Amino acid sequence: MEVSEKAPAKINLTLDALHKREDGYHELEMVMTTIDLSDRIELADIDGDDIVLENTSGLIPQDERNLAYRAADLLRQRMGITRGVKITIHKRIPVAAGLAGGSSDAAATLRGLNRLWQLGLSLEELAELGAEIGSDVPFCVWSGTALAKGRGEILTPVAPPPPCWVVLAKPQHGVSTAEVFQALRVDRIERRPNTEAMIQALEQGDYRGICRHLGNVLEEVTMQMYPEVKRLKEKMQQFGADGVLMSGSGPTVFGLVDRESRARRIVNGLRGFCRQVYAVRMLGSNQPLLLDKSRTI
Ligand code: C5P
Repeated sequence: MEVSEKAPAKINLTLDALHKREDGYHELEMVMTTIDLSDRIELADIDGDDIVLENTSGLIPQDERNLAYRAADLLRQRMGITRGVKITIHKRIPVAAGLAGGSSDAAATLRGLNRLWQLGLSLEELAELGAEIGSDVPFCVWSGTALAKGRGEILTPVAPPPPCWVVLAKPQHGVSTAEVFQALRVDRIERRPNTEAMIQALEQGDYRGICRHLGNVLEEVTMQMYPEVKRLKEKMQQFGADGVLMSGSGPTVFGLVDRESRARRIVNGLRGFCRQVYAVRMLGSNQPLLLDKSRTI
């Protein structure tokens, strides 16, 4: 038996850090939405009890440092499963990019193994397990568009963005989320996003409002570390994106654009400055099982 799951990336429309908690994490408020840039995860029964990981990128770890491996390991422990599995990751989402690629692989592994092993767990239960793997995994289990609070695991669905294009530019280097959060001084944040206003803009399908209220308190921190992020943001603005922001802890910068022809123009302009440039559609509708065209082979 073999199953296949789509693992889409996310972007942050907002990211606010309210305070640092006693457990070392930051109390967050962020609006996240799924985009049409996806890895594909294949899960196959194998003889023996090993978790075997293969991937097409060469950039991600093949062992227990990989979040998909950890997802399979955790699910096996909790459900008392002794079967082995081969996990193949067809990687398209840039690595260490602020797009939750690793978290989405873990989430797709949880969803896929739930089917392969016929565990009958609900998405709520999978999301709860996912929170033990990483703060963005619960959102990725559900996908869609949501307000995320707490470490990122307390989710409330929000209306999806209206159809538009997302241009992504990923600088050469990756970024460590832990390092960025470590450098953040919550008491020195000068500009915070208006999360409420973003949610209202989404509820009203107000594209211009969404562009106006994009905001991420980690952007300043990552830009200090990597000036290239600032340069890319400025380029994206010059080339005419309607709203531009760094996603998550970065370093990927995204621009929202309402027409395909303009998105293509911006992509062509950016190609001179950045090797990894993409134009994709939003995928934020809150119908995870519909958007996730998972199938049993
Ligand atoms: O949860 P996850 O392992 O993805 O988080 C990576 C790192 O990001 C954490 O070790 C922590 O340093 C930081 N983080 C944080 N507050 C959050 C989420 C992550 O400080 N809410």
